[in-house]
Amino acid sequence: MVEKFLEGKGALITGGASGFGRGVAIEYAKRGANLVLVDINEELLEETCKKIKQVNGGKKVIPIVCDVSDSEQVQAMAKQAFKELDNIYILFNNAGIAAAYGRNILRVKEEDWDRVMGVNLKGQWLVAQSMCRKMKAQKFQGESISGKIICTSSIAGMIVNAKIPAYSISKAGIIALMQLLAKTLAPKILVNSIAPGYHATGIYLNSIDDMTLTMRDGNVKTPLNRVGTVEDIVNMVLFLASPASDFITGHNFPVDGGIANVGVPANYFETNI
Ligand SMILES: NC(=O)c1ccc[n+]([C@@H]2O[C@H](COP(=O)([O-])OP(=O)(O)OC[C@H]3O[C@@H](n4cnc5c(N)ncnc54)[C@H](O)[C@@H]3O)[C@@H](O)[C@H]2O)c1
Repeated sequence: MVEKFLEGKGALITGGASGFGRGVAIEYAKRGANLVLVDINEELLEETCKKIKQVNGGKKVIPIVCDVSDSEQVQAMAKQAFKELDNIYILFNNAGIAAAYGRNILRVKEEDWDRVMGVNLKGQWLVAQSMCRKMKAQKFQGESISGKIICTSSIAGMIVNAKIPAYSISKAGIIALMQLLAKTLAPKILVNSIAPGYHATGIYLNSIDDMTLTMRDGNVKTPLNRVGTVEDIVNMVLFLASPASDFITGHNFPVDGGIANVGVPANYFETNI
């Protein structure tokens, strides 16, 4: 039987309509959570919420359409979320987009930079900022922790990838954001991040072939000799939401089959600008 450690607790998941967000939502639901799923893709969001309601035994699953890079929409989203649920114990701060592939740091287009930074970095900051005051004030009987924030970074934020510079910088920024939030919100709210490797989700158009082409181009070696799955990420995000991680804050956890330790060679990129 699955342990219902999120019974009586609310979880808000950004990018909840697809990929990691969707996978985590399904598993949080099985652990008894009430859910708010936030996404910019209304159609996919409705479809995901419908699917989760089937496994969620009468618990709430609330869809909120919101662009996380827009501060007004984020403020309205947070207000609605706390109206719908009486607590939000977990924030899975996860919405993100891919960047145009191949342009080096000196050739990135300004609009690509702004789009990627807006969603991937500013988005997570805005969402955390809009929610953490209320999260901090919550109380759960017999518990000293009032909430947990899990951010999604990337191994590209740990070892910069020269073909996706804006993306790499946005994800390095997430690791810094996570550490700053962890310092600021301790001891009430625990804040950690996950750094996925290569997993064929929406950002790779759900295609393992597209993803492996990118890996081959980057000469990426995976010590564990397979590509990542959504389940690999879900397992880590479940752990970080569970009481088993109650003494952990301020850390970035790679879930990448060992890639970050081996590293992506920096010299594969053509540097003639
Ligand atoms: N898949 C990978 O291999 C991989 C690797 C490293 C990091 N990541 C990160 O994982 C996170 C989740 O991505 P995924 O892989 O599940 O891809 P995905 O495309 O399946 O999911 C991302 C979700 O975010 C939503 N979204 C995009 N822009 C938004 C916005 N402005 N406001 C609200 N929602 C928005 C999308 O509609 C989508 O549902 C992202 O932050 C991504 O950068 C993924």
